[in-house]
Amino acid sequence: MKTTTSTQVTHYEVQKKRRESLLEEWKGYHKTVVRRSDVTMVDVPSRRTRRGVYAGWDGDRPTKNLDATVHELDPGVTTTIHRHSWDAIMFVEEGSGWTEIDGQRIDWRPWDTLHLPSWAWHRHGNDGDRPARFHTWSVEPMLEQFGVALLEEGGDTPVKDLPPRPRQVEPITGDDPYARRTQRLARQYEGTESARLVTRFEDVRGLVTKRGARSLFLVDKSIGYHTAGLSAVMHELAPGLYQSRHRHGGEAWLYGVSGEGYSIIDDVRHDWAAGDLVVVDHWQWHQHFNASKDKTARLVRVHNFDALYDMMRILMDPLNLFEELPTLDAPDLTGVVWPDHLEGRPEG
Ligand SMILES: [Fe+2]
Ligand SMILES: [Fe+2]
Repeated sequence: MKTTTSTQVTHYEVQKKRRESLLEEWKGYHKTVVRRSDVTMVDVPSRRTRRGVYAGWDGDRPTKNLDATVHELDPGVTTTIHRHSWDAIMFVEEGSGWTEIDGQRIDWRPWDTLHLPSWAWHRHGNDGDRPARFHTWSVEPMLEQFGVALLEEGGDTPVKDLPPRPRQVEPITGDDPYARRTQRLARQYEGTESARLVTRFEDVRGLVTKRGARSLFLVDKSIGYHTAGLSAVMHELAPGLYQSRHRHGGEAWLYGVSGEGYSIIDDVRHDWAAGDLVVVDHWQWHQHFNASKDKTARLVRVHNFDALYDMMRILMDPLNLFEELPTLDAPDLTGVVWPDHLEGRPEG
């Protein structure tokens, strides 16, 4: 075994080079708009589905935080069951079907949103008469980065014969450092297994924000979900209108659900339509516009807030990780008549 070091370059030079090449490599992976037509659907025989990757390692568009995948499920098909250490948001685009999460069946229709919690066994079924399509946005890349991304396949085993979710420790009484750790972890985990799993689109209504859009939470801790940081909001942009400009330290992903528009990101215009994914990279000034004069444009915004951005804010302080104009450049919404929020939703 070799026990001597004969490096001729200094620690400083090695680290400097490593830092530069990492960022260069990662900037090369960034793609601002991934169009529906850029996404190839591929058969996944082991799960009985088809899958297309918008962004993520599995589709040769590596990411470090989130990934975005679209899934297709033929009529009459039930997938195999699996579970994983990362959680995911699932957004239904077309068709109707169901998802079973730890044995609990949830029926869904277009624009319904589900949360697939970490370590919950899940499988999907299509009992409609045409293919169903849904999107998932997960934090698998973040867990892979930390070396804790675990995936377990259950095949067609009934959920009652599969092991339960890993148990969190019971809190130990006392004030020693170990007891305190168990108490804190138990507190954090509390409610996780009974947390909310679905947002039905017909049951939610948006509120007009100061930024100029009508927005509603799809998945967020403020409406009863326990995620590992994932949050999803739907923004509706009124015909011909837009949202105020801002920038932030974390990236934001925007999936076009209906309508068409464009985003100005660091002074460059990027057009998008339903089916496209817009990836706003960190610290880029951005503003989203509805390009239509008569139709609402809807975007689902996904980010990894509580886990990643809160940590980034603390680690990066005193750098400010959110910035908007001192006076918001939001449109005047007086007189705007918002269409029925179900307008344009595909039949289930
Ligand atoms: Fe999954
Ligand atoms: Fe943003």
